Amino acid sequence: MEYKTIMCDVLVVGAGGAGCRAAIEASRHNLDVIMLSKELLGKAHTAMAEGGYNVSLGNVDPDDNPETHFKDTIVGGNYLNNQKLAKVLVDRAPQHIFDLEDMGAVFDRTPEGKIAQRVFGKQSWRRTAYASDRTGSEIMVTLTEAIRKTSVRVFDEVFATRLLVTNGKIAGVCAVDLKYGDYLVFRAKSVIMATGGAGRIFKVTSNAQLDVGDGYGMAYEAGCEMIDMEMVQFHPTGMVKPESARGRLVTEAVRGEGGILLNNQGERFMHRYYPAVMELAGRDQVARSIMTEVLEGRGSPSGGAYLSISHLPRSIIEFRLESMIEQFEDAGVDIRDEPMEVSPTAHHFMGGIKIDEDAATNIPGLFASGECTGGVHGGNRLGGNALADTQVFGAVSGESAANYARENPHLGVDREEITKEFGRLEAMLSRKEGVSPSDARAELTELMWEKVQIFRKEEEMQDAVNQLRRIEKEVVPKIKVDVPVKRFNPGWHQAMEFVHMVTTARMVAEAAVLRKGSRGAHYRVDADPNDNGYYNIVIKKDKDGKMVLRKEDLVITSITPP
Ligand code: FUM
Repeated sequence: MEYKTIMCDVLVVGAGGAGCRAAIEASRHNLDVIMLSKELLGKAHTAMAEGGYNVSLGNVDPDDNPETHFKDTIVGGNYLNNQKLAKVLVDRAPQHIFDLEDMGAVFDRTPEGKIAQRVFGKQSWRRTAYASDRTGSEIMVTLTEAIRKTSVRVFDEVFATRLLVTNGKIAGVCAVDLKYGDYLVFRAKSVIMATGGAGRIFKVTSNAQLDVGDGYGMAYEAGCEMIDMEMVQFHPTGMVKPESARGRLVTEAVRGEGGILLNNQGERFMHRYYPAVMELAGRDQVARSIMTEVLEGRGSPSGGAYLSISHLPRSIIEFRLESMIEQFEDAGVDIRDEPMEVSPTAHHFMGGIKIDEDAATNIPGLFASGECTGGVHGGNRLGGNALADTQVFGAVSGESAANYARENPHLGVDREEITKEFGRLEAMLSRKEGVSPSDARAELTELMWEKVQIFRKEEEMQDAVNQLRRIEKEVVPKIKVDVPVKRFNPGWHQAMEFVHMVTTARMVAEAAVLRKGSRGAHYRVDADPNDNGYYNIVIKKDKDGKMVLRKEDLVITSITPP
């Protein structure tokens, strides 16, 4: 099995908001930094983030401060957040939005010329900084330009498939150059995982195609502790039509700017559920309210609700919700006059790789940041906290990984392990018979959407667990790519991703079964009233390859759950 070895000091896996920020930070330490991008640089999911970046600047509401931001984040997270991580997020969010400005990002302004801020759900003050409704895109354009001014070596369209661990410490990764089908081994003194989320394990999602959970799968296989994987956020408002756009994000900024939700009788139904905050209740709460309307027969024709902003001044819609206008124009709807039909869509993983305040995992030399990590957002992330997370923990992980690389040598890697990994990938191409990756993926995404959804039930989740165990045992080893070529072959890419999708889905479903009560985004129709849910669930692969789950005490520094 032929492969090429590439050496560096710090390796960043992933090139979204967190990965780029991590690479920029690490490169400031005069080290050889490589960043792997599964797509062309700039196309990561962060570019699809719309609404904004939470930061308590107090530009619009002067009483806002990091303490209030902290409190909102913990209460919004249903008290499951690691409070040490949440504190880092709120304290460093201001410094990193100014960093972005220094790099050239342009955010919308107040009449006095300060960064403008708007309200998102569960916020005490208007705290979300924005660039119209394409904030993520503004940030990604800025970061990719900034990367080009550094010495970071970017490897586009390179897919990392396995972490290499030597004597319990990180040593590098196995990867495939998707353009040419070449096998690559990157050896690094430290590695940062910034691989984003896994919305794509659900049939309906707002996530980019590449968000399939490969980071979760790789980290788990390498022996990382994973936390609260059952906590998946369903954003209340995704597009429903046309079918090709189903799940696409309809930003919370629509509701932040005054948009209202209506049922098929024209009733503003949020009165019934959260009258004090209405459409700006938590995302989990709004998603459940919409689905209750649907289940009780008051849904829209495609199984959702109507989101209307036609009562707002046209100038607000045209200036602050530009992309929404375009997005719905493509669907034949003029949102200035007509309501948008929306329904929930899998959006964000609150759970992920367990990290500490230095973004360190339990594997020495391995760091992580952004959506692939867990703990910052608890049981429900506030809209706008994800972009802040990418910048804050991106920078923290870059700094930590650089410090580690300065003090530690390269470790040897196991040739046999590498050959086995590339052999596994090669077998998908040479198998004579088997299951096509697209069929296997369709089965998995349908299963997750149907059985591990917004309203969860023991019986359905247990069925999902059983089926996922079967898929892992019987389908994964039989995945067969239809066209056996290695040069840019989407079928092979799908096949390589599939094993990580299965591992990720299993972690979600197994943890969901273990959590018997309802808390945050994990809502059971058969909740055990004796389970108040104030704990985290940690998952780890044991020595025998078994997935082991345990409950762990919350990390509380100042706010105690009620
Ligand atoms: O609705 C939105 O614009 C999404 C923002 C977020 O998830 O932070």
